[in-house]
Amino acid sequence: MTMARNPRFTKAADEAALQFTASAGFDWRLIYHDLEGSEAHVAMLGKQGIISQEDVSVIRDGLIKIRDEVQAGVFIPRIEYEDVHMNIEARLAELIGPVAGRLHTGRSRNDQVALDMHLFMRDVGLRHRQQLWDVMDALVTQAEQYPQVIIPGYTHLQAAQPVLFAHHMMAYVAMLRRDWERLADWQARVSVSPLGAGALSGSPYPTDPEAVAVQLGLDDTYTNSMDAVADRDFLIEYMSWASLLMVHLSRLGEELVLWSSQEFGFVRMADGYSTGSSIMPQKRNPDVAELMRGKAGRVFGSLLTLLTVMKGLPLAYHSDMQEDKEAVFNVVDTLDALLPAASGMLRTLTLQGDRIQMRLREDYTAATDLADMLVARGMPFREAHHLIGGLVTQLEHDHIRFADVTPEYLGRVAPGIPWEWMEKLSAEAVIGRRQQSMSTGPQFVSRAVATAREWLNKGL
Ligand code: ARG
Repeated sequence: MTMARNPRFTKAADEAALQFTASAGFDWRLIYHDLEGSEAHVAMLGKQGIISQEDVSVIRDGLIKIRDEVQAGVFIPRIEYEDVHMNIEARLAELIGPVAGRLHTGRSRNDQVALDMHLFMRDVGLRHRQQLWDVMDALVTQAEQYPQVIIPGYTHLQAAQPVLFAHHMMAYVAMLRRDWERLADWQARVSVSPLGAGALSGSPYPTDPEAVAVQLGLDDTYTNSMDAVADRDFLIEYMSWASLLMVHLSRLGEELVLWSSQEFGFVRMADGYSTGSSIMPQKRNPDVAELMRGKAGRVFGSLLTLLTVMKGLPLAYHSDMQEDKEAVFNVVDTLDALLPAASGMLRTLTLQGDRIQMRLREDYTAATDLADMLVARGMPFREAHHLIGGLVTQLEHDHIRFADVTPEYLGRVAPGIPWEWMEKLSAEAVIGRRQQSMSTGPQFVSRAVATAREWLNKGL
């Protein structure tokens, strides 16, 4: 028994049209969620007396058989049935006969596919929660491993002021924590069932959408049937979330690319996270970090795809909306691959203490503090800034670093500055003077690390 042809049409679908419009090639991955939704739907139909309990159990057995076939890899999508939903219905008809036709009572593919996407994305959300937790854990672990290492902090990619490496890591933890909270916020909006909306207006059967939602473990139902089938904002929101996450991760990726270069040499990627060049034997390429930056492109692109698809669409469902899937799957697959690789890379990278020390000695990152010392003696900050700027220019010209300034030299080029001040310009001294709880002052950073660790321990 196969599905009867739709009597509205006298001819079978044109092959080219079918190839163009069918989604079975990519919506197949919704199959488990589709079956889950159908099981809940058919149970509700039985409970509400819309179909008989005998039919319910025949249909349920058929659905279980199909799940087994999927698991065994013997149920293969057929393009002529358009999409995953019709493939399942056709197979059900083959397995249990005409009673299969009762499954779709009070339901449309419009609310069905929306439900599938909600169920699929609910699992995605749970997975990303764990994956993002791992990335934050890797960053906090690095901060814990190197509590005292000081690196140059940059603005305009010019060495600016020294900061604790842990402080730099914790900046990313703070960003990712906001991403984590945004994800949790979105998860609440995903946990909503559209089933019951039918094609767009509801249905004349006494269905029980709330019971379906409860059975599926969803927190709520949509409050408007047209909205339920017509919006994809939960997917757009997911991709916006992912885009912002990629903004953060791509910045970290870029920093690691810089830091692992010969020019910086601050970090060394573990062998497992570096690749060689096919031609240049000396290379250790930071591929994971590069792609952590590069993959942002496809994530932003996918967001733009769906925003563009949805813009200006009249209510309710349109085939345009079928375009949501590949865009969303693209983002899901990207994050599923990226996040575990990112946490592994972060967990295993090591700092190159000597190189960092060398850079810290060479840069004049204590210059602001020197100006601040003049301010403490009563000089207006602008004037102090000017005076120290002149001193640094002279030092640079003479190839002398702060640490190498002698009393004679200072007396000659900047007689207004007491030489003892030069001893207060070590990176340790500079960060030790930072006084705000958000600053790189060591006591504040270690508190931030401890707080993050506590939060992570009870997270998830
Ligand atoms: N394949 C479709 C999609 O992904 C399923 C819904 C189709 N509904 C319809 N009325 N043609 O959106």
